[in-house]
Amino acid sequence: MNKRIIDILKLEAPAKIEASGWIRSFRGNRFIALNDGSCMSSLQIVIDSNSFSKNIVDELNNGASINVKGALVDSLGSGQKVELQAEEIKILGISNPEDLQKTILQPKKHSLEKLREQGHLRMRTNLFGAVFRIRHHMAFAIHKYFNDKGYFYIHTPIITGTDAEGAGETFRVTTLPIGKESIDLKKDFFGKPTHLTVSGQLEAELAALALGKVYTFGPTFRAENSNTTRHLAEFWMIEPETAFADINEDINLGEDFLKYLINYGLEHCHEDLQFLSDRGVKEESQLPKDKRNELSLMERMQMVISNDFERITYSKAVEILLKSKPHKKKQFKYPIAWGVDLQSEHEKFLVEKHFKKPVVIVDYPKEIKAFYMRENSDGKTVAAMDILFPGIGEIVGGSQREERYDVLEKKCEEFNIPKEAIWWYLETRKFGTVPHAGFGLGFERLMMFVTGMSNIRDVIPFPRTPNNAEF
Ligand code: 4AD
Ligand code: MG
Repeated sequence: MNKRIIDILKLEAPAKIEASGWIRSFRGNRFIALNDGSCMSSLQIVIDSNSFSKNIVDELNNGASINVKGALVDSLGSGQKVELQAEEIKILGISNPEDLQKTILQPKKHSLEKLREQGHLRMRTNLFGAVFRIRHHMAFAIHKYFNDKGYFYIHTPIITGTDAEGAGETFRVTTLPIGKESIDLKKDFFGKPTHLTVSGQLEAELAALALGKVYTFGPTFRAENSNTTRHLAEFWMIEPETAFADINEDINLGEDFLKYLINYGLEHCHEDLQFLSDRGVKEESQLPKDKRNELSLMERMQMVISNDFERITYSKAVEILLKSKPHKKKQFKYPIAWGVDLQSEHEKFLVEKHFKKPVVIVDYPKEIKAFYMRENSDGKTVAAMDILFPGIGEIVGGSQREERYDVLEKKCEEFNIPKEAIWWYLETRKFGTVPHAGFGLGFERLMMFVTGMSNIRDVIPFPRTPNNAEF
């Protein structure tokens, strides 16, 4: 097998090598930029077109795949250290220039919308190559972080009968025929209604109450019809759950975890991040001055690593918002008052205008949060926390869990959750219950932050959103 270009570029010339990849460009019948996706950089192939048959030279079109054997030599040109002098070229797959015109492989600027429509090809562009290489490194770093900290990776079910968040935005799973008037759910595959999971948390809690420290990292599904730049119907979530821990330890873990991941990105994805950072600066320069980000992508990442996150209570956040200019000038679309859920405009104000760094909000009113969150002694709030990031808003949502059986039982009643549906969850509170806490990090929200991409559809290979499930 031939070496990948990322490794070839590290070799010292001279050397005999073989490389395979896709042609990014062919200039002056002499220089091929060959990219194999292993890194942003392409390998320069130099050919003497007289030494190859016309048949071969005619097929050296953008998008075609080739295998080249030859000598790696020091490059005379600027822009690369080494180049490959082709001795043998094999065309693996042709690319018809006329058909290529209609695709995003045509080397010119394409809109992100157009790139999305051609999701089957967009990973071949510099931009999406960078995004998805970073996505891999982030996923790997997540496993490394938890493994190093003694957390066990738990696989929670994808098909479930419970709705952890209680928001009711689930996708039904059924084998019953479509269109039958009255369906008997007892005759369905599982003998009861089931759907795709919205969160692995409840099962992760069961595992944490046995193994101590666990985390999940899997796909979750939400049928919320919010066609925004921050919501997907299918997204990946990381959910650590820690036994013998309270809300403050949960926040500490969340802050440390996010900083670790961003640091890991800066260390391991330098070339791709530099590309995305430069791209961001270019894009921003076309925006009106007041909409521009003052910091580049890499500066924003540095800013998160080097600052303590601001920690405030929900009540304090509301107080700040009520005193704020946009509130007084009635510029918020959603009015603010104690007891209402914070909207993204409010979160944006707190993070980007007021504190200018990540903000952790704790102790939310119990009515606006999930049934499993631990009630505080004031009887009005729960030990919930959200971590808010610049440009993203909520990136993490978590809480200390209600470990007291009687309180949890009462909460189930208040939230209309039938005890028969989650008897197993309640039962863990009967036998050796302990304080425990966890959170959920939206993987694609993290990806938006570390790539600077402003639409969540551009950080997952094949996005699922309302009216869109192509590929
Ligand atoms: O705040 P959420 O709903 O929390 C939970 O699901 C808890 N069970 C987590 C836990 O405590 N174990 O979701 C967690 C995170 C959000 O902060 C956000 O980053 C992301 O998941 N998220 C979404 N990402 C993309 N598309 C959506 N529709 C999302 N909904 C939530
Ligand atoms: Mg949330």
